[in-house]
Amino acid sequence: MCRIFAAILKGGKASPILTAGLKRLEYGGYDSAGIATIHNGRLFVKKDAGKINEVDRRLDFGSLPGSLGIAHNRWATHGAPVQVNAHPHTDCKGSVAVVHNGIIENFAELKKELLDKGHHFISKTDTEVVAHLVEEYLLQGISFRDACLHASRRLEGSYALAVISTVEPSRIMLLRKDSPLLLGLSDEGNFASSDAVAFIDHTQDAVPLDSGEMAELTSSAYSVFRTADGKAVLKKPIRLEWTLEEASKEGFPHFMLKEIFEQSRSLHYALNLQKPYLELMAELLDRSKTVYLVAAGTSYHSCVAASYIYSELAALTAIPVVASEFVEQYGRSVNVDSTVLLVSQSGETADVLRAAEYVKAKAATVLGITNVLGSTLTRVTRAYLLQQSGPELGVAATKTYASQLLTHMQLALYLGKKRGKLSQSEVDYYLDAFKKTPELVEQALREHDERMKKLARKYLSRKHFFFLARGLNTATALEARLKLSEIACTPSTALPAGESKHGPISLVEKGVPAVFIAPDDGTNKLMEGNIMEMKARGAEAIILGARDDEKLRRLSDEYVALPPDIPGILTPIVYVVPLQLFAYHMAVEKGLDPDKPRNLAKSVTVL
Ligand code: M6R
Repeated sequence: MCRIFAAILKGGKASPILTAGLKRLEYGGYDSAGIATIHNGRLFVKKDAGKINEVDRRLDFGSLPGSLGIAHNRWATHGAPVQVNAHPHTDCKGSVAVVHNGIIENFAELKKELLDKGHHFISKTDTEVVAHLVEEYLLQGISFRDACLHASRRLEGSYALAVISTVEPSRIMLLRKDSPLLLGLSDEGNFASSDAVAFIDHTQDAVPLDSGEMAELTSSAYSVFRTADGKAVLKKPIRLEWTLEEASKEGFPHFMLKEIFEQSRSLHYALNLQKPYLELMAELLDRSKTVYLVAAGTSYHSCVAASYIYSELAALTAIPVVASEFVEQYGRSVNVDSTVLLVSQSGETADVLRAAEYVKAKAATVLGITNVLGSTLTRVTRAYLLQQSGPELGVAATKTYASQLLTHMQLALYLGKKRGKLSQSEVDYYLDAFKKTPELVEQALREHDERMKKLARKYLSRKHFFFLARGLNTATALEARLKLSEIACTPSTALPAGESKHGPISLVEKGVPAVFIAPDDGTNKLMEGNIMEMKARGAEAIILGARDDEKLRRLSDEYVALPPDIPGILTPIVYVVPLQLFAYHMAVEKGLDPDKPRNLAKSVTVL
């Protein structure tokens, strides 16, 4: 949730690089920001509550001296977002500084122990104990590296930590348990961060750390150890494919809008999936007796759509499950014959990784779909597909949703072929249709951006929306609801249209906007009945349908016309686009920042 960044250079000031990195990491937390550097044996710290740009304007982070430093964007968990709780946190003497992403679960016990030993605390955070714990071990006369190692063995919970000390001012210690952390290696110096976007303008060579590892970083070298026994671990760098251009706004006012408009490009990349992995995963899915699709938020919605897709193309029953519920809901029924397909854009969502750990212990097969090479998901799965959407920095998932859908579709196609459920001509038909998705999305973007802005203005003051769909576009309704609530803070109800009569229709009164997602996919006849029912009770019908569907057009108060003749299976990719734009424009019209939704962070790395 918070994001950390560390830099140690061969020469020059680290603070401008740390500041620029923090600005790119802002999607991960924006309650407070801070940087600590070491120069001439002294520790310098600047930090405050507020968004990184405001804090930087007030404090001028770039003026901090020294070629080594650590930096932090905070998303508050323990202690209010005020200056004293902002990171970095320091020890009593101001010789150790720490930044942290995660939660130290046993911080209260540790704090008591350290208070009894005479340590002085100033914040309400769990993180401050780490600085004092390292100080306590340094007081015993051991090296900085060993002090960090000992401290890590006392910590329970999750953490990505970067620690610096004036005792050894030419190294940074990095510790990882669960929360993401990777090193970046370059000729000008070395880096570490929760996310490669922080250092992607300096290097594409990265070393992802695994849970339970510690790294020691100097300006020209790195070494990795296991925290449990201090043994060295040999880790080779991987080459990241992302570029700085992909991680910048490219002239759009917000990352969210840029990423919505980038979808045709990212869908194009998602057509280049790794064939050997598609084959292997299809093989493993085919052998399973039970298949679960496990994910959170938007990724879960891709799994809801995917459950229809695997059934349609491969006659496979795949059960979509919200990750935070998986262990309790299906834990006992998982066994060696089960396959769990984890879907996570970041590959770091704690609930998803918890499910992975649980099912691995039961000898189930664990597969994955993710956007982040080197993420934890890529290391806990037997095989995974990289959806290759490029970095997504808007907190709202948009382009990665479309690519997840296309990834599921391709996997379903391989599986359908393998299981003999599709003829070669059907396979060719779908392959051809998949290739058209970038152009279809491009068209939807061209035709509907202005229109959705107008609709957002028209419906701005409405208090509650309905999103109704049938079949696999139930996922589109759920996703439209999530986008509108997280970005525009507008409540809505989303459900399969057939369910409305079973209760939710009682919320309908004159003027309630009801959005119907109604492509020409065979569900239209039933949908017409649902539209009539809602209209008869005063709802205003905003209908997303095929351009040539005159009947639906006549039923609508607002008609959003989408390309006709799209194979039903592809409609969720195309029909979600106007609804993403609608949520975006609603937020902007309300004066909200779509890239910094209230109370949210890009990836939820705590349980
Ligand atoms: O990185 P993941 O795909 O695992 O993230 C899952 C959810 O946290 C994420 O989709 C979240 O719901 C987004 N804010 C949706 O826009």
